[in-house]
Amino acid sequence: MDRRRLLKLLFSLPWSHLFTSLGFAQELTVDSSSLRSAWDALEFSLPTRGTLPGTDKSPQIPAVVIRLAGGMKTEDALFVASRICPHERCELLYFKDPNQLQQIFRVRAENPVLACPCHLSVFDLRQEGKVINGPAPRPPFRFRFRVQGNKLMILGLEEPGR
Ligand code: FES
Repeated sequence: MDRRRLLKLLFSLPWSHLFTSLGFAQELTVDSSSLRSAWDALEFSLPTRGTLPGTDKSPQIPAVVIRLAGGMKTEDALFVASRICPHERCELLYFKDPNQLQQIFRVRAENPVLACPCHLSVFDLRQEGKVINGPAPRPPFRFRFRVQGNKLMILGLEEPGR
């Protein structure tokens, strides 16, 4: 099964299956030493333990860690989230420069954002991923994590409502 079909199958699953039944590979460690300045970002894939229905494939969830402005490298200074759009699950893109967002998407933002190329939902990273444009019903799902030196340990999905 090629990557495109695998992603299509992954993104057709209900959210509850995607984030609970599949289960995360616990304590994935990401080397965050490249996140030196505010708004530096690192994309990674979060492996899951389960398999997709009708396959022997374990999906990878596209994710990102972004160092927020003005913070030390602690849990509060990092935004760690899925890059799956909460609308219809296209893969989100990170725009550090809001001017670039405006040039490409024709959407204005004041801050760095995550944005969806499918229906132009935009998520403000200074406001915890608040939706500032488009049809997405909520911010992207965020992950619980722990910082140990330059390592980021992904522990699971955050409780809704954070
Ligand atoms: S899939 Fe992202 S806005 Fe529709």
